[in-house]
Amino acid sequence: MTANGLFITFEGIDGAGKSTHIEGLAQLFRAQGRAVTLTREPGGTPLAEKLRNMVLNDRMDAMTEALLVFAARRDHLQQVIEPALSAGSVVLCDRFTDATFAYQGGGRGFDLALLDVLEKMVQTTAADKGGFIRQPDLTVWFDLPAEIAARRLAGTRAPDKFEAQPFEFFRRVAAGYRQRMQASPQRFARINADSTRDAVWQQVLQALRYRGWMA
Ligand code: TYD
Repeated sequence: MTANGLFITFEGIDGAGKSTHIEGLAQLFRAQGRAVTLTREPGGTPLAEKLRNMVLNDRMDAMTEALLVFAARRDHLQQVIEPALSAGSVVLCDRFTDATFAYQGGGRGFDLALLDVLEKMVQTTAADKGGFIRQPDLTVWFDLPAEIAARRLAGTRAPDKFEAQPFEFFRRVAAGYRQRMQASPQRFARINADSTRDAVWQQVLQALRYRGWMA
């Protein structure tokens, strides 16, 4: 799908521990001489970061939330992700559309069929760039049982709107991720995140080596 660049997204419920591994991969790709774009959702552009603030802090219904994260995603794709991929960059993105299906769809119970429509609209590339629906080349999913994630998060920092949700919410989010993986198994690498940091890192490396993207 991607001509030169590589689009890798990272997913998991809050507390699954993605951040250090995303940083580690950025360093490894750079050491291989690749240009790396490290970014996140919602966010990644000035406009999308404003929308992120609203989504994470303001009360709104699930549809408003879904529309705002997709609006942020549209700007992010146009301003950052598509240009970086065209330039041959490795784009490492902390969360993407699977998070919308997991949090707004699974967690908040928003209509999955409508999320499907929004995904297709928002991720369709410009006609002169092929007009296809942009999807990650790989999604690294840090799979962690909701009860363990809750234990890890407890007392670590002031929770945002999602982190403050009850445990049941995260059970539904985790189920939402699983459903997305089952729908596109070839796009996903499932990582057993209920393990030591080093064991998790080895699994992440293995997923990239398996695809021939890492020495
Ligand atoms: P997160 O990526 O975990 O950042 P931090 O480590 O700073 O907390 O926080 C983003 C939150 O936004 C997370 O709880 C998931 C949520 N989210 C959605 O609800 N929908 C989305 O489409 C995305 C991308 C994130």
